Amino acid sequence: GSSKKEAQVLCVGLDNSGKSTIINRLKPDESTSEDIVATVGFTVERFQTPGVRFTVFDMSGQGRYRNLWEHYYKDAQAIMFVIDSSDKMRVVVAKEELDMLLDHPDIRVRTIPVLFFANKMDLRESLTSVQCSRLLELEKIKNKQWHICASNALTGEGLHEGVQWLSDQIK
Ligand code: GTP
Repeated sequence: GSSKKEAQVLCVGLDNSGKSTIINRLKPDESTSEDIVATVGFTVERFQTPGVRFTVFDMSGQGRYRNLWEHYYKDAQAIMFVIDSSDKMRVVVAKEELDMLLDHPDIRVRTIPVLFFANKMDLRESLTSVQCSRLLELEKIKNKQWHICASNALTGEGLHEGVQWLSDQIK
């Protein structure tokens, strides 16, 4: 047996932001996928940090599936929100989705941690994590711990810092 904690995390963000690529990187080597295709609906994956076993719901970011997200809010103990930091125009759309999430009855009153990945930091035009947090107005989040990491899901840079922070928030 082991005394590891278990946590369910909901991974959301617009289509093409890199959610599935991030989760694939976090999984143990033997279960990684060669080809990441656009997520239909959602998929369930698992990964661990030294302290926590995470079950992650990788939600499709495509417009027609975004209404699925809210059905999983109630059971989520943490949120992972992925942003394509190279696409400044779409950060505005991401903010609309984030604001709806934070205002949802199953999220609003809860003190669950929110981890942001400012992903695709490797692209030349990408915004810094500070610029992303300004555009998303993260300083307005009052009743939740949040953290933003710049990441490159292709190399894994930034991912472990993020999930380590997340596992430190799990009680
Ligand atoms: P949906 O399933 O449609 O919601 O998309 P998603 O958020 O799961 O995105 P996905 O992981 O499928 O990645 C979309 C594309 O971005 C793929 O071509 C990835 O290879 C690419 N990508 C993901 N992360 C990075 C990154 O950090 N840098 C760069 N340059 N490309 C990335």
